Amino acid sequence: KPMKIAILPGDGIGPEVMNEALKILRVLQDQDVSFQTTINILPWNSEYYLENGRMMPENGLAILSDYDAILFGAIGDERVPDPITIWELIMPIRKKFKQYVNLRPVKNLNGIQTPLFNQDQHIDFVIIRENAEGEYSNSGGRLYEGTQDELAVQNTIITRKGTEKIAKYAFEYARKTAGRKVTSATKSNAVIHSMKLWDEVVAGVAKEYPDIQLEKNYIDALSAYFVQRPDTFDVVVASNLFGDILSDLGSALVGGLGLSPSANINPEKEYPSMFEPVHGSAPNIAGTGKANPIAQIWSTALMVEHLGREDLATLIVNSIEDVLSEGEVLTPDLGGNGSTFQLGDAISNKLSER
Ligand code: NAI
Ligand code: MG
Repeated sequence: KPMKIAILPGDGIGPEVMNEALKILRVLQDQDVSFQTTINILPWNSEYYLENGRMMPENGLAILSDYDAILFGAIGDERVPDPITIWELIMPIRKKFKQYVNLRPVKNLNGIQTPLFNQDQHIDFVIIRENAEGEYSNSGGRLYEGTQDELAVQNTIITRKGTEKIAKYAFEYARKTAGRKVTSATKSNAVIHSMKLWDEVVAGVAKEYPDIQLEKNYIDALSAYFVQRPDTFDVVVASNLFGDILSDLGSALVGGLGLSPSANINPEKEYPSMFEPVHGSAPNIAGTGKANPIAQIWSTALMVEHLGREDLATLIVNSIEDVLSEGEVLTPDLGGNGSTFQLGDAISNKLSER
């Protein structure tokens, strides 16, 4: 039975890089009779908002719940306020579909020279960010507004259940990928209630995984270690805010936004998971053919992996690395003068040769 995939290209460079991801799915479809997909493109973007006054139809989430996975481009348009595009499209999907794991690989692909490191330093780890609670809550408020005594309270919600689920996911992931170590980002020396609970729960889960080492680092020190010894991590587990910040740092370590993929996962597979590049709609280069499609193509590989085909996901990433190593068609962010579709073509051609 074919996998049903919802495609949300979005705005700006979103549809441009999505076209290249669709080429990859087409190659898989043509070559592997056991991996069949039904693809529907849903035009829910800023244009749709300007016509309909909403980012998606009223029954949008019900429509999406029928799919096995969602492949997302990027959203954002100067004619629509950012809080609307994000809070009325991406956030409802993450929340409704209980995508409480945000997974971001930090891997120095073959063929990418970063200014910071030599190629001998092998950077290959994942950040597993708690995606549903933590510091990003709407609990809190402001008092004495406009007066000298004004104050704001922003509550962090760390729950035993939520932390247990993300910690288990991290340890399971380490075991599955032959990782030796899980690094937990914390700040329990200063944030004494929420982060203490986080530490206790993570340590409790670690006991069930004697084969995997638990390393606990304070977030400030950990940020420095990311720069000083990025080759020593396997799996990094972090709360919502810490994970958000570490992800961008990780992305910068290995070549930048044009390369960085992400997955919003509902591990129970009760609902569809969503795969998207870390970058936004990049209005400054939209329409110029300069967008790097690799982040979108790699996100597609994460989706294929989630759908049970790790073998095909590896082939996609290998194809990306081959094209990068040859270095003949690179987009401007990688120092070349190739276009979005030339780079996408090169990768899908490589894939079809495999
Ligand atoms: P951005 O990620 O769109 O762009 C930041 C910089 O990176 C720009 O210079 C851009 O040209 C470059 N860049 C991004 N993706 C690239 C790619 N694939 N290839 C080459 N260069 C690339 O972030 P920015 O400018 O802060 O936001 C633009 C819009 O995107 C805003 O409306 C924002 O709200 C939205 N946004 C949406 C996200 C999403 O859909 N999940 C995530 C981040 C931002
Ligand atoms: Mg972020």
